Amino acid sequence: MIIACNWKMNMKRASAHDLVSDMASLSVPDKVQRIIFPPFPLLADIGAQIRETDILMGGQDCHSQEKGAYTGDVSASMLADIGCKWVIIGHSERRQHHNEGNTIIAEKVSAAQSAGLSVMLCVGETEQDRLSGTSDAIVLDMLASSLPDHVDPMRLAIAYEPVWAIGTGQNADEADISGMHNRIAAFLDASDMPDIPVLYGGSVKPDNVAGILGIASVDGVLVGGASLVAESINSITSQALAV
Ligand code: PGA
Repeated sequence: MIIACNWKMNMKRASAHDLVSDMASLSVPDKVQRIIFPPFPLLADIGAQIRETDILMGGQDCHSQEKGAYTGDVSASMLADIGCKWVIIGHSERRQHHNEGNTIIAEKVSAAQSAGLSVMLCVGETEQDRLSGTSDAIVLDMLASSLPDHVDPMRLAIAYEPVWAIGTGQNADEADISGMHNRIAAFLDASDMPDIPVLYGGSVKPDNVAGILGIASVDGVLVGGASLVAESINSITSQALAV
């Protein structure tokens, strides 16, 4: 079970330090893996802080090239060098605000895996897709097109995040999550990648996480807003331990 914490563009050193201390005070057996995704400027400090804990760290994005004249960007090998084990790729906020399409996302997946990172690849339909009844086709196409030809299944997790559920307080209902996760699992099976964890993300909170984690095809959650508050993320983690 994976509890992934996407801090997005939130937190400064002091508040991040306090949050991680509170998270580390909860002892978490191997059954649950916590991964935090701080903003780039915090990675060095937080990396030092989590060294003696079970918490892993990742970047929220990386460039598709290993190095070069790309002002403002960060490469996967830089993330690995500073202690990241993971990177989020293809989050809907990157797709939307940075115009990232499936082709560049697939290149980033390759770059990240080549640098030794595990990839949390995000896919999900928009509200418009949902209303027009095309969610399944959109999500499966996004998944197929966002994966490079050569992918290391040992370094991959998929996060199904309906865009309309992100940051809205309105999570997808359990039947919809279960249906989409089953379709994603069938796609992965058919692609000879049967053991890849599939997470749900989008308004996961302490009061809905037990139901979501109780769905057989859900292997964890990607949490945004609720991962910024120690009591919330510790409650979510404790509930994951009880599943
Ligand atoms: P949210 O964000 O939990 O605040 O909805 C989830 C995400 O964007 O990963």
